[in-house]
Amino acid sequence: TKDQNGVSHVLLQSPRGASARVSLHGGQVLSWKTDRAEELLFTSSKANFKPPAAVRGGIPICFPQFGNRGSLEQHGFARNRMWAIDENPPPLQPFDSNGKAFIDLLLKPSDDDLKIWPHSFELRVRVVLSVDGYLSLISRIRNVNCKPFSFSFALHTYFSVSDISEVRVEGLETLDYLDNLCNRERFTEQGDALTFESEVDRVYLSSSDAVAIFDHEKKRTFVIRKEGLPDVVVWNPWDKKSRAISDFGDEEYRHMLCVDAAAIEKPITLKPGEEWTGRVELSVTPSIQ
Ligand code: BG6
Repeated sequence: TKDQNGVSHVLLQSPRGASARVSLHGGQVLSWKTDRAEELLFTSSKANFKPPAAVRGGIPICFPQFGNRGSLEQHGFARNRMWAIDENPPPLQPFDSNGKAFIDLLLKPSDDDLKIWPHSFELRVRVVLSVDGYLSLISRIRNVNCKPFSFSFALHTYFSVSDISEVRVEGLETLDYLDNLCNRERFTEQGDALTFESEVDRVYLSSSDAVAIFDHEKKRTFVIRKEGLPDVVVWNPWDKKSRAISDFGDEEYRHMLCVDAAAIEKPITLKPGEEWTGRVELSVTPSIQ
């Protein structure tokens, strides 16, 4: 299907009724629903869906730069570009069978992209919806250049939460983090679990492979499992910053939390011909049976 801007969307459906919607604008997952049709990802009511805007919600892909750590536009250009459906995907395991619905998306640099970032790459993202409604994103980046390049990567996942002050994040205890609100100064997390009462903008370094978000009011738990993506971004703009973001409602910070699987502190370097793979699986309990 196409949206009002003429952008193609692909709907994945599991036999039990869960679904995910993926837009070719940014190669971005815009919706992930349980079998009870509850939306699990946040999208702002003020989001701008017109390419080449970055869409505020779902799972924007930050590549080849995270934030403003480099000369490119904020979070790199991948989220602003039109992607293609990869009709001839390389075999990726182990997601090829058992009733899983999937789509392969592909981004290659345009001539204009090569002017601002002179590295030929192929970025493939396979979005998989399992029978149970789990959502996986398998990202592969190949260097098709004749010289090495380095990049950062993040799946800037906007989770929908009932009330941010009732949310707890576990799996980041005792980790070091870079605080974007303090010139990326390095701190060590002291508390048991993260709770939220003001703006947060951090990159947790080298986390374990699973992070959980507990939403007490909804009695819902998201689990993020990841491979190849050591860092975890946690972002909520809170009230003051929200008012400064044009495509974000003043009160919407209460109902979202970004927790990204990412590779930021140590950029990934690929030699010519090399390929990198990062995997993320999102699950939710108890909403999907
Ligand atoms: C976060 C960054 O991950 O993304 C923040 O750490 C930034 O600094 C936020 O404000 C949103 O970015 P953007 O470009 O989508 O407004």
